[in-house]
Amino acid sequence: MNVEGIWRRTIELAGDGRSVMVIDQARLPYAIEWMTLTSVAEVARAIRDMHIRGAPLIGATAAYGVAIAMRTGVALDAACAELAETRPTAINLRWALHQMQSALAGVYAGEREAVAYAAAAKIADDDVAACEAIGNYGKGIIDAIHKPRVDVLTHCNAGWLATVDWGTALAPVYKAHEAGIAVHVWVEETRPRNQGMLTAWELLQHGVPHTVIADNAGGHLMQRGQVDLCIVGTDRTTRNGDVCNKIGTYLKGLAAHDNGVPFYAAVPSSSIDWTVGAPAEIPIEERSGDEVRFVNGLIEGKPGRVEIVPRGSAVANPAFDVTPRRYMTGLITERGVATPATLAGMFGK
Ligand code: MRU
Repeated sequence: MNVEGIWRRTIELAGDGRSVMVIDQARLPYAIEWMTLTSVAEVARAIRDMHIRGAPLIGATAAYGVAIAMRTGVALDAACAELAETRPTAINLRWALHQMQSALAGVYAGEREAVAYAAAAKIADDDVAACEAIGNYGKGIIDAIHKPRVDVLTHCNAGWLATVDWGTALAPVYKAHEAGIAVHVWVEETRPRNQGMLTAWELLQHGVPHTVIADNAGGHLMQRGQVDLCIVGTDRTTRNGDVCNKIGTYLKGLAAHDNGVPFYAAVPSSSIDWTVGAPAEIPIEERSGDEVRFVNGLIEGKPGRVEIVPRGSAVANPAFDVTPRRYMTGLITERGVATPATLAGMFGK
């Protein structure tokens, strides 16, 4: 990822080789600050309060949380239990904790710290490799559109901020841009937490042309022929290819279907829940109503928040929805582009 001209990852080890540094997404896009995490409780809080976010990055951060647990003498089961309850929907969290438990099974106490840090580093490195492969496969889809300018619509932030590097839905955009293909991104603001601003900030850092739109504008642009394809991320994909992603994704899937616009999800295998076959089995996180009631931004140049909902009105805040497989044109994985029908076979399931 390109942060003010310097290539970095969203999660890195600090100078002591043991503390974990993450870019604080709660401060973006108004300030670039790094947080240092030194305890399991700090890691859990960073995930729960969305200082870090995005399914693959949640997984990698939780893995390092387990490594920190091994360093600080916290029992493996207790650390995994504390980390697992931070966010319920993104399967990458549970997947990463399972990987860490497997890596540590049968390892002697004196070796656990080193083994855990190595296992967490592998999860991070594998995520980078998977996202880059998704980028290359997705670039092929963008390239095949053969237009002077390709307009991609995306929802939420599934860029490098949501992963260790490259991103999932945005990796094809970065690869296309790098290859000299003229690509422009319609960035949905993604109320209530406005992750679209993170997407806009990322694209700005990379110099990719983009336009921020209200969430409600996406369908209209599709009707007018101004969207060539949609690419979104996923927090949990069922084995049948139903895609759970940030709330509002489903409406874009419907609009894309109605208008004949190809609708892709970028799906690293760490985001596939092979145990789940039906959308209703996916737990949907209900977040604080304050995320609906207040909007964060700059007030006269300073970060602040504004209350927008009348006091006394109830609010609800389901954070994810599921786009059924019938609306998915394709699932861009690190092994290639699958359809919902071929996904399981692609991974030998
Ligand atoms: O609640 P968030 O911001 O963690 O949700 C993020 C998303 O929904 C992303 O689209 C998803 O994690 C895919 S990330 C590559």
